[in-house]
This record gives sequence, C-alpha cells and structure tokens, in this order.
Amino acid sequence: MHTNHTFKALLAAGVLAFGAAACGGDDEGSGGGGSASSGGSAEAGKVAVLLPDSKSSVRWETVDRPFLQKAFEDAGVEAEIVNAEGDKSTQQQQAEQAITNGAKVILMTNLDSGSGAAIAANAKAQGVKVIDYDRLTLNTDATDYYVSFDNEAVGRLQGQGLVDCLGDKQGAQVAVLNGSPTDNNATLFKNGYDSVINQKFESGEWKEIDDQSVPDWDNQRALTIFEQMLQKNNNKVDGVLAANDGLANAAISALKQRKLPQVPVTGQDATAEGITNIINGDQCMTVYKAIEKEAKAAADLAIALAKGQEPQVETKPVNNETKDVPSVLLEPVPVTRDNIKEYMGNPDFPKREDICKGDAEAACAELGL
Ligand code: BGC
Repeated sequence: MHTNHTFKALLAAGVLAFGAAACGGDDEGSGGGGSASSGGSAEAGKVAVLLPDSKSSVRWETVDRPFLQKAFEDAGVEAEIVNAEGDKSTQQQQAEQAITNGAKVILMTNLDSGSGAAIAANAKAQGVKVIDYDRLTLNTDATDYYVSFDNEAVGRLQGQGLVDCLGDKQGAQVAVLNGSPTDNNATLFKNGYDSVINQKFESGEWKEIDDQSVPDWDNQRALTIFEQMLQKNNNKVDGVLAANDGLANAAISALKQRKLPQVPVTGQDATAEGITNIINGDQCMTVYKAIEKEAKAAADLAIALAKGQEPQVETKPVNNETKDVPSVLLEPVPVTRDNIKEYMGNPDFPKREDICKGDAEAACAELGL
C-alpha cells in the first residue's frame, strides 16, 4: 500500500514526466476521415485519464488502470493515468496540468458533478474532448461521451439478490448502506434496488432498520454507520443491502466483531475480497461488471477522438439534466457461490490465488474452484 504522500508524489512525478515526454505537434486538423480503422496512430493527440481514488473500491487501481493502460498501449496512443485520491481540487489540477501538457482528450471519473462539470467546462473552452468514465457528470454541456454500465440494472440485481438470499423469511430486518450521495451512480444503484426491496418493506414482509448513504463510499465510515445501526437495533439484523463490496466488507467486519451470525449481504465490483466473502458465506452476492470491456470501450472512443476522428460506435442518449450525452452502457451480471466458476479465468475477474486464501481454501475446493 502506498501512503497518501508517496502516492501523491508519484502522481505528481507522473504528470511531470507526461509534460516532459514530448512536445508533439498539433494534430487537430487531420481532417479525420470516417473510417474507424485508419491506423495513423502517429497523428494521435494525447489522452489523460483521471481516476477518482484508490479506497472507495480497489477496482480503480487494480482493474481499470491496467486495462485502460493496455488499451492505449495497444493502439500506440500516449496516455497518462492519474488518480486524485478523493481530492476534488487535486483532480481539477490534474486536468489543467494534462491540458497544459497537450492532452486532447480527457477520460474522467468525477468526484462529484460540480467539480466534474468545472473540469469539463475548462476542457471544452480549450478544445479538449471529455468522456465521462463510469460516472455521469450532471448539469454540463461540456461532456462528449459517457461510458458505463446500466447502473439501475446493477441496483436491481442487488435488490433481487437480497430477495433471493433471504428467501421467504418473514419479518426480516434489513439495513441499507448506499454509496456516496455525490456519485450519480449511487443514485442509480439505489433507484434500482429500491424498485425491488421497497415492495418488501411496504408489504410488511421486511422491516427496514435504517437506510443511510456513506459519504465518499468511505469504508471506515460505513463501519461506523453500520455499527450505529446495530446498536440502535439491539444487534438484530437479517440482511444488508450494501452498495459495493467495500461497504459489504465493513458490515461483515462489524458483524464478526460482535460475534453475530452470518446474514445475507450484497455487494458490487466482484473484488477478490468480495468473492472470498461469498465463498466463506459472509456475503451473499456481488455484481460483476466486466471492466475490461468498459475500459476498452472508453479507450476506443478516446483514441478516435485523439485522432480527430468521429468515433464509429453505437451509442444511446443519456440525459445529464442539461443535454443528452451519447453513451455506451454495458450489462452487469450477478455473482453468487453458484456461478463464480463461470467467470474465473476472465482477465478482469479476481484470480484463484487471490480468492482462495486461508480459511477460503477448503470452501474453494468444495466449490471445485
Ligand atoms: C462505481 C463502483 C464503485 C464505486 C466506488 C461507483 O461509481 O460504479 O463500481 O464501487 O463507485 O468507487
């Protein structure tokens, strides 16, 4: 693990190296024919990728970064990937620095819509294209594309997952841990799972213990929030709708600390920790989003734009409250103990040696993993 400081220093160094790397010519006016495959990579402008943090989910550094990097390398397009470590002003500075250093396209996972819109406006003013990566930036006319998953579908899978895991248990007491209130995805996930679980609360089949958002998806805060929920409810809980694997693991840790029994907990991201929790019976499901495909789709768009071409991809409009943004949305899938095996071996799915460790060894063998 990097300390914050070392990490920031490395990032800063990365930005500087990017600046020093080349003072490439201005490729703007290459006239860009309609062909998707005119291979003139030498003409491509630079791309900057702005990742949000490394703690709200391990995905950003362990999956998104390497797959984005690979996609740009394969295309011979220069790309610099930086991470704002949760700091909005750092992300704004990284964007400005990238533009100063000659970036023609910015691929951004925002930290909230306000700072994301400011970055996009500044980019647009300088003729730089902006792609929203995974998180939609609301209320801006300055973004060009959006690449993500069908995030309401992610939420519906979580809601249905909890319903399946709880079976016909009557009177189940359920706690809800939402993602960050400033992440549009968290709103979409919630719309999705609420459309499934609210019926259970309304019919009286389930009882809602509490429903709280976790600022910045901060796992430590999730632990505190969940502990307070337990405290308030005399340690009685039968199920947890947790919006990602990090929040799920916070809830699982709290249950373990109090020596409470395992209960169904949902998740998202199919992280190694989440899959191990599923194998051990601590977590009931996660949502696997094929990040390799997401990274590739975003990189393909960025590469075309960096070459001054019109991207040849099928998009659908997603409204960001100011305009319809041409979007590529991929399909998520649910993962439970029963289908882990299907996805093992996918390049963006955790490796066996990272899942089947310690206590999980025996359970892995049982599942034939
Ligand atoms: C992403 C999730 C991730 C969460 C926390 C969301 O915007 O879609 O995959 O777990 O942010 O980083």
